[in-house]
Amino acid sequence: MNDQPDDPTADAPSGMRQGLTSYGDSGFSLFLRKAFIKGAGLSETALERPVIGIASTGSAYNPCHGNAPQLIEALKRGVMLAGGLPMEFPTISLHESFATPTSMVLRNLMAMDTEEMIRAQPMDAVVLVGGCDKTVPAQLMGAASAGKPAIQLITGSMLTGSHRGERVGACTDCRRWWARFRAQEVGAGELAVVNEQLVPSVGTCSVMGTASTMACIAEALGMTVPGGASPPAVTAERLRVAERTGALVVQMARQRLGPERILTVQAFENAMRVLLAIGGSTNAVVHLAAIAGRAGFELDLKGLDRMGRETPVLLDLKPSGAHYMEDFHAAGGMATLLRELKPLLHLDALTVTGRSLGEEIDAAEATRPGFAQDVVRPLARPIYPEGGIAVLQGNLAPGGAILKQSAASAALMEHEGRAVVFEDAADLAARIDDPALDVSADDILVLKRIGPKGAPGMPEAGAFPIPLKLARAGVKDMVRISDGRMSGTAFGTIVLHVTPEAAVGGPLAHVRHGDRIRLSVARRELSLLIPAEELAARAAAQPVQEPSAERGYRRLYLQSVLQADRGVDFDFLVPAAPMRRIPDPG
Ligand code: FES
Repeated sequence: MNDQPDDPTADAPSGMRQGLTSYGDSGFSLFLRKAFIKGAGLSETALERPVIGIASTGSAYNPCHGNAPQLIEALKRGVMLAGGLPMEFPTISLHESFATPTSMVLRNLMAMDTEEMIRAQPMDAVVLVGGCDKTVPAQLMGAASAGKPAIQLITGSMLTGSHRGERVGACTDCRRWWARFRAQEVGAGELAVVNEQLVPSVGTCSVMGTASTMACIAEALGMTVPGGASPPAVTAERLRVAERTGALVVQMARQRLGPERILTVQAFENAMRVLLAIGGSTNAVVHLAAIAGRAGFELDLKGLDRMGRETPVLLDLKPSGAHYMEDFHAAGGMATLLRELKPLLHLDALTVTGRSLGEEIDAAEATRPGFAQDVVRPLARPIYPEGGIAVLQGNLAPGGAILKQSAASAALMEHEGRAVVFEDAADLAARIDDPALDVSADDILVLKRIGPKGAPGMPEAGAFPIPLKLARAGVKDMVRISDGRMSGTAFGTIVLHVTPEAAVGGPLAHVRHGDRIRLSVARRELSLLIPAEELAARAAAQPVQEPSAERGYRRLYLQSVLQADRGVDFDFLVPAAPMRRIPDPG
């Protein structure tokens, strides 16, 4: 920008000249914008630079993003060193423990906020600062739809704590210690002491939960700087990742390297491989489906399962394994994992650097060659022979269901049992700990109406507790089935995302106490052992009334939300054009 009268049509619209406010006079619009931005103290020289938006999600309600101020300072440094003008702006921020009824209800709102603010405000490229479970998928969904050059900056994982010499970290150990408390193995006093150790710093959960999974997926998609997934939140390396992200995004702005060139079929297939190989969170299947949907692709669950049969789990992290995110980082992070996975990846997929994934893997090998470590296993010696996630089908889940087999009990993977049914979360809360509950360890627990519309928001209630009387008798795991999700940090033989959900009349709605259910992970089967005519008769006798709301966002949500296999996105946010399936059926 200069001091001469501006002609916004003279140049290709970029920087502060793009996306002018509609006053019916574009010259006046630019004149007014300049007046206001100068009111913030910016000079003409600054305004000549590529404008880099920074979607900031720092919030007192989000300790997982507690390092956002330091990250953004480093990020701005990187932007300015590379000749850009950083422009920070706020968007919705979501933390798992501070959103009711569940952050998942609000993920699409955050995605819409991100998309619309990228679209509405003048910027040549954008950095998405996110980390906690829903924030990264929301930001990638929004950025994919907005179409501007975009790069993800992950906030990074928290440190681990220590309790009486035992290492602990959120949130696998949160669940384990709570289960021990319920089973009366520890008292309230010790529980309070552990509580102070589980989250010893800002940052995202320290295991391979949803946040860590989405960080790895973002890098596998090519949407972060190489090595951007694993540095812990409070390290100097995380700050250097931020600075490098700032420098890179200016290059992306100059090259107009948009997400349509990065979020390709090959990139999504790479992300699916990584999800399977890291024993990643089941939630990532939903989020990947949603991000892919924004890019014009439909995630094929059967295809994901096929990939899983040839993609072993290589990463030895909780909850599938033994280590924590900082150990993964010390073992070389994604560079080590991608090097091992190389034969299964599309190496020509483009990344935010402008180079291919294969070139980045080779570059990492040249600067930081592999070394002996025990966190990332070689392909020949996996910690689990197949991918972490199995996709089940059958008359109980015609649209599919998910099981995290790498975190399940081997003894329950082939299991037939009597259904003990809870109609919804309130019914579960009222009866699960009732000493009179008719239940035994061989039964299969069924929880209805915690799906996308049911709860609503598909809360992470799928890993619901073992009935108290069985927990106290030493039962650690049972087959549990629901249309909900579970935290990526949870473990057990837990069947999730049953589609269609009970609240829209899926077969799950018609399961009754005492029915027999068969789970066969080997055959990928989830069956309700009643005749089809009986199931149809039950459905006809008890038609389901779908939930609705009077007003506001909840009304929009209930009217528009898609099922789990479509990513729980809104029907009006995915492209209308027919979608290409991923993985590519060939
Ligand atoms: Fe934010 Fe676990 S609660 S990552």
